[in-house]
Amino acid sequence: MSPSNPTSINIDVIQAVLFDVICKDLSTKSYSVQKNAIPEELINLLCERVNSEDGPHYKSAGIGRSVSQHKNQSVRRDKIAWIDDDMLIDQKWNLWTETLRTALNRQLFMGLTPIECHYARYEKGGFYKKHIDAFSGTDNRKISIVIFLNDAWKTADEGELMLYVGPDHDEKILVSPEIGTLVIFLSTEVPHEVLPTNGTRNSIAGWYR
Ligand code: OGA
Ligand code: MN
Repeated sequence: MSPSNPTSINIDVIQAVLFDVICKDLSTKSYSVQKNAIPEELINLLCERVNSEDGPHYKSAGIGRSVSQHKNQSVRRDKIAWIDDDMLIDQKWNLWTETLRTALNRQLFMGLTPIECHYARYEKGGFYKKHIDAFSGTDNRKISIVIFLNDAWKTADEGELMLYVGPDHDEKILVSPEIGTLVIFLSTEVPHEVLPTNGTRNSIAGWYR
């Protein structure tokens, strides 16, 4: 295979290189942001699914938990739908997350178990205030991932994901929620927030334990 002819490079090779970069990033700086991280066919199917009339069955996030819905609405304003193992597209997504899990386990010796994911939809005015996905010792979420499903996102739509990184969490990384961008980070290490969105914003968030 000639590296001077990128069209001949197999998709598995591209993914393997990507996974290497992700593992290196995670071990050196606790996070990684990768554009066009998901094979095109898969990302397009996921986008179609969230945009279709018969898409995921969303519910307000946090309903049925111990926090009151009122309090919850001041922390996050989004709707979620857990990945549906009976849907072919969701099965394909699960398969992709399994290949990533294998790479993380092989290179970082993390002993991660299969991911749990939900779709999230933030309508205009939606947000998720600065939070951390897991506290060491109290929760066994180890790695968080977010993948964006907005095929026509533009700056005016806002709703960026802000990561607070570095030893003192004072370094801000602003990520545009553009289709195919993957954000991955150590769940206990990286506070983050979804800035208020000015349009509908679709994503998948997931956690490996
Ligand atoms: C989360 C989260 C970010 C996003 O659900 O914990 O941080 O962009 N989501 O959906
Ligand atoms: Mn989060």
